Amino acid sequence: MSTVLVTGGLGYIGSHIVIELGLAGMDVVILDNLANSAIDVFYRLKSMARKDIEFYQGDVRDSKILNVVLSEQSVSSVIHCAGLKAVGESSLKPVEYYQNNVAGSLVLIDAMREAGIQNLVFSSSATVYGIDAPVPYVETLPTGGTSNPYGTSKWMVEQILKDAANAAPKLSIASLRYFNPIGAHPSGLIGEDPQGIPNNLLPYIAQVAVGKRAELSVFGDDYPTADGTCERDYLHVVDLARGHVKALDWVKNNTGAEAFNLGTGKATSVLEIIQAFEEASGVKIPYSIAPRRPGDLPAFWADATKAEKLLGWNAELGLEEMMADTWRWQSQNPNGYRSNAKEAQPDSSVA
Ligand code: NAD
Ligand code: UFG
Repeated sequence: MSTVLVTGGLGYIGSHIVIELGLAGMDVVILDNLANSAIDVFYRLKSMARKDIEFYQGDVRDSKILNVVLSEQSVSSVIHCAGLKAVGESSLKPVEYYQNNVAGSLVLIDAMREAGIQNLVFSSSATVYGIDAPVPYVETLPTGGTSNPYGTSKWMVEQILKDAANAAPKLSIASLRYFNPIGAHPSGLIGEDPQGIPNNLLPYIAQVAVGKRAELSVFGDDYPTADGTCERDYLHVVDLARGHVKALDWVKNNTGAEAFNLGTGKATSVLEIIQAFEEASGVKIPYSIAPRRPGDLPAFWADATKAEKLLGWNAELGLEEMMADTWRWQSQNPNGYRSNAKEAQPDSSVA
């Protein structure tokens, strides 16, 4: 039996990974403390999944619950998504970020060692390249020089995992450096559900589209880019999730620690995103130009050749799908998971 533990599996990215693992024939157990997710996500996943899914409510920093999960569920691999992710908040609450992201990863890797589990896929970020890296970002570039505790926490965990793999030759670890995941599952059943005012571009646009926010602020139009607004490498969350299935395959057949960029290799500006969203949804997005947001880089995108060569992965879904799926999710769930929890109770006939 080969069960995959997904920490943070009820979050935005983790929930999409759970679906793709099921499609690939794997059993899944989720550990999540619900710090930034809702139990309704689990009910929806149960109703969508082809394979069995178990859920433990608990914290990745709690070695007791980890030991229980790893022993009860015959886990053979771990995908570690649990953590805090708000860049701005991380400067206000650095200790909380290092505790969740760094200490949590240490507790996890220790529990894996005790349980004899060798395979780990870690949710890292393009932010580890730091603020001075040349574009496109390629894995051979030096990392570090991050500008906030969130980015530094991801960089630290990558270093820790490298050292751990050097010391334990059977360990196999893939750190996946995500670029900008957007979109939602095409079913419209799962997607991104930020608490409060969204920090990220697509959730904000989607909330403007359903009338929850009056207009979008475009943070700066005087960057050295084609239209003056920032450019990013946006990738569909389903593509990103499929990258984890490929990475899992890689860790099962290799040893050592490797980092992989997961991006499309294309950069898109904020104004291009607004236009693409309007085309996909048929809804006009009112916006105004606001001052630059502190800490934003003008443009970065991935060189994703390594993932293509070693994992056999590349992004298949385009901007049109990213926008259409964001719109389907937001328009069908205007209040996120809280809006229609009743209709989304688990379907016990599909386990
Ligand atoms: P998310 O907040 O939607 O999901 C994270 C999940 O982890 C949540 O369900 C939360 O409840 C849970 N969690 C948080 N701390 C925990 C803890 N100590 N113990 C157990 N569960 C805990 O975030 P996401 O967008 O799905 O991101 C997943 C991972 O990917 C994170 O590690 C994040 O840093 C990383 N990442 C995200 C992005 C992005 O743009 N979304 C980009 C790069 C990297
Ligand atoms: N933006 C706006 N208005 C908004 C929100 C965002 O104009 O209301 C702009 C930003 O200025 C930026 C672009 O839209 O130019 C994308 O911003 P996001 O906040 O969506 O994404 P970031 O690139 O800033 O951050 C993402 C992840 C982080 C990660 C970082 C680097 O959210 O976790 O990429 O990899 F650290």
